[in-house]
Amino acid sequence: MKRLQVAPLYITLSIALIFCSKEKNNVLDKKISCDTANVSYINQVKPILERKCFNCHKVSDCASRGGNVCFETYQQVKALTDAGFIVPNIEHKAGYSPMPQGASKLPDCEIALIRSWVNQGAKNN
Ligand code: HEC
Repeated sequence: MKRLQVAPLYITLSIALIFCSKEKNNVLDKKISCDTANVSYINQVKPILERKCFNCHKVSDCASRGGNVCFETYQQVKALTDAGFIVPNIEHKAGYSPMPQGASKLPDCEIALIRSWVNQGAKNN
């Protein structure tokens, strides 16, 4: 009897889990174009930051994992690039903390996209 009563809960949880993992996979699997001609924040830059940076720097985790450097929204990312950060960090320029911390350098394509996006005015596009 006990088992029957909790069954609906398990079913609901399983469905919720399936939906959540689907959504996560979509973000991770999203193909990013390496075209640097007119870089889009939404389609190119943000997915890179989501994959490689937000696991430490998003607002809910930055205090414990990201050294209190918090960026998640466009405005927060823009404030950092305006202050001269992010590009030198991912390029591993001397004097800047190399990012992503404890991992290998981003692929050239991803560095080029972020650099071009900043040079093109770091637009919310
Ligand atoms: C494993 C956790 C982790 C990941 C992943 C990570 N960071 Fe960091 N980041 C940190 C910590 C901790 C600090 C603060 C200590 C320091 O500056 O080294 C930091 C600091 C920074 C700073 C300020 C650095 C400075 O020179 O003062 C920037 C900008 C930054 N990260 C950008 C990024 C970007 C962009 C990515 C993704 C490409 C990234 N981080 C990925 C943990 C991480």
